[in-house]
Amino acid sequence: MTRVLGLVGCAAGGLEDIRTQLIEPMQSDGWTVAVTVTPTAATWLRASGEYDKIEAVTGLPVRVEPRLPTETSPHPPVDCYAVVPATASTVAKLALGIADNQALTSVCEALGNRRPPVVIFPRINAAHAGQPAWLDHIDALRRAGAHLIYGDDVWPLHTPRSAPGRALPWNAIRRAIDTTTRAHDN
Ligand SMILES: Cc1cc2nc3c(=O)[nH]c(=O)nc-3n(C[C@H](O)[C@H](O)[C@H](O)COP(=O)(O)O)c2cc1C
Repeated sequence: MTRVLGLVGCAAGGLEDIRTQLIEPMQSDGWTVAVTVTPTAATWLRASGEYDKIEAVTGLPVRVEPRLPTETSPHPPVDCYAVVPATASTVAKLALGIADNQALTSVCEALGNRRPPVVIFPRINAAHAGQPAWLDHIDALRRAGAHLIYGDDVWPLHTPRSAPGRALPWNAIRRAIDTTTRAHDN
């Protein structure tokens, strides 16, 4: 059975690798991948040339803007959302239900509905985690059933600007998408 991954990318380190490290490997495992990105992430992907490459490899438009009320969604229904990489800002907005771009709108709705499942990898540093509301945001997302790839075992916190180019835990991310989706099938 073909599954559809709704991949949501934010403006954080690792965004430049989502095609090679996540989209193409998931497609090799039989997934269709529909990509939505935040406005800032879209600017980054256009500047690097990855935006067009992602559209070419997925065969779907990369969504940034909400559709018009008269339009239908250009993406198929998804079996799992993966917010990868998730910025501290987008994590905070998701926890609070702030849906002020298309990426947030889709994932906020999934969190509120408790389906489809949502996997989140916060690509954060020690300063983001030290923000006074951070742990409340993490707790709120867990209570809503989100699967967080988070903690010293997968992503030890670094000081700001000390880890440019640090590889994301791609294997753990792909595994979490697969196991979380299977768990929701049952
Ligand atoms: C070069 C650069 C790297 C950044 N890396 C991160 C990061 O790894 N994690 C993070 O939470 N924010 C990072 N930021 C800050 C976010 O891009 C910024 O908060 C932005 O408003 C997030 O928007 P978005 O969540 O809508 O994509 C970075 C900013 C720049 C300029």
